Amino acid sequence: MADGPRDLVTLVETDSTNDDCRRRIARGAGHGLAVRAERQTAGRGRRGRRWESPAGNLHLSLVVTIPDRPVAELAFVAGLATAEAVAVLVPANHALRLKWPNDLLLDGRKLGGILIEREGAFAIIGIGVNVAVAPQVAAYPATALAAIGGPPVGLDDLARRIAAAIETWYLRWRDDGFAPVRAAWLGRAAGLGETMEAHLPTTRLCGIFRTLDADGALVIEDATGTMHRVTAADVLSPAP
Ligand code: BTN
Repeated sequence: MADGPRDLVTLVETDSTNDDCRRRIARGAGHGLAVRAERQTAGRGRRGRRWESPAGNLHLSLVVTIPDRPVAELAFVAGLATAEAVAVLVPANHALRLKWPNDLLLDGRKLGGILIEREGAFAIIGIGVNVAVAPQVAAYPATALAAIGGPPVGLDDLARRIAAAIETWYLRWRDDGFAPVRAAWLGRAAGLGETMEAHLPTTRLCGIFRTLDADGALVIEDATGTMHRVTAADVLSPAP
């Protein structure tokens, strides 16, 4: 799939491209399937949030076989690859960064997000990128590629570029492990060395974002110099 997905299905409308992939897996599809929809009627974000999915934005899901590695690492593979594919469309005077674990930030505003779900032996990587429109959600200010006047791109073309980048990084991760993914992810990280706030289930942690550890956990240093490993949280970077 290095030149793009073996099978890119383009739909006018579906409930969620992740659910569409799940149904196709049940009918025998597998690694290499990619589904893009112009609109989603029940798009989902992380943590059960709704994902507004108007026409003109990218709503894409890819199916990969889960290799013999921690599946949580796939979040970084997918975020990094998506950022690399989208970065080609971002003029040099704008900053495209990754917010842990895999939100795309353009000039500090949310440009896209990724939702990974398991289905048997497969992972479904759902990718939303605000290409034409930036639906405003309470959690984070949003933006769209259209707002910065980059080169025009067709959504199928963008889908194929992202799928090809994911396949490249997926193979590297599967064959060489997490270390190269981690290093490249850190090179695109938002807010490294700056204050950030992590919203944990029962508390908030504010401190300096030091690094990603070898497992992909966020390492935050609090005001007393204590290092904290965070494996699940909503992150605000920089801290408000
Ligand atoms: C997030 O930032 O919360 C993740 C958003 C993921 C949205 C994409 S759009 C394509 C795929 N289908 C869905 O229902 N969700 C993902």
